Amino acid sequence: MDRRRPSGQERNYLILDKFIERYRGRPGGLVRILFKAQELFGYLSPEVQTYVAEKTGLPASHIYGVATFYSRFITEPPGKYSIGVCTGTACYVKNAQAVLDRFQAALGVKEGETTPDGMFSLRTTRCVGACSLAPVVTVNDDMVGEVTPDKVADVIRRCREAEAEEETERVPERRRPERDERAAPPGP
Ligand code: FES
Repeated sequence: MDRRRPSGQERNYLILDKFIERYRGRPGGLVRILFKAQELFGYLSPEVQTYVAEKTGLPASHIYGVATFYSRFITEPPGKYSIGVCTGTACYVKNAQAVLDRFQAALGVKEGETTPDGMFSLRTTRCVGACSLAPVVTVNDDMVGEVTPDKVADVIRRCREAEAEEETERVPERRRPERDERAAPPGP
């Protein structure tokens, strides 16, 4: 008897299988299946799209068409900092679009894209349940409320600072410059 426990990835496919069984062929079923797949795997990679095509019996080109048509689907690997601008009603009426526009300009990517260095990805989300703090932005699992366009730079700066801190921690003690080295003036 195989006592091996399924890996996280295998578990995700098992969950997706059950979801596909339930929604295959139903109106709006494919969109629900793709949302579930995105939730499980983080984004709709070509492998996941192919898997959904095989399991639903739909052409891969159709899956790709749907995955790239809706802006809420992510088809590229998310950045280290996944920024979500909530465009639910409460946030939308409080200028979420201007916040999104500012993120796009500041990061140089469009909604659904990832910066070339893989650091940031930008997407829109539905209501995240914090309407009293609208407009709301999520950064990975954290939530930032009352984000105006002018606060966008701050959100990005905090991510960069967190990254710099992590980078410092990653440098092993032995590889840190000696005191004399640190005190030495920069070379020509
Ligand atoms: S609509 Fe944005 S948090 Fe509810």
